[in-house]
Amino acid sequence: MDVPLGPEESFPVGRFRVVGVAGREIGIARLPGGGIRAVRNTCPHRGAPVCQGTLGGTMLPSPRGVLDYGLEGAVLRCPWHGWEFDLESGRALFGTASKHLVTYPAAVRDGMVMVTIRDGGAS
Ligand code: FES
Repeated sequence: MDVPLGPEESFPVGRFRVVGVAGREIGIARLPGGGIRAVRNTCPHRGAPVCQGTLGGTMLPSPRGVLDYGLEGAVLRCPWHGWEFDLESGRALFGTASKHLVTYPAAVRDGMVMVTIRDGGAS
């Protein structure tokens, strides 16, 4: 089901605003580089309110002796233990962690932020 959440301007750029949707806490953020993302406000590591974390970038895989920073504005860092998550896929970006953020399709239609929630699902 598509749920209207409010005018685009009511959601900040570069940080999350958390709203209640169908019994879930979902954070919505407009990305500095454009686009909008929606994630459940629960870290898959230990359950932190992950949307209180920071949006930024991360160090990318690179050859020895090269420091390559990228994905600026597309990585969410959890406020409790610093795990980083790719906002596009929800996947954890380091180590062997296979845990993912729960993400939701989000879009702006006619100036209104919409998020898509699966009916009756756990997510
Ligand atoms: S609870 Fe998020 S990294 Fe530990």
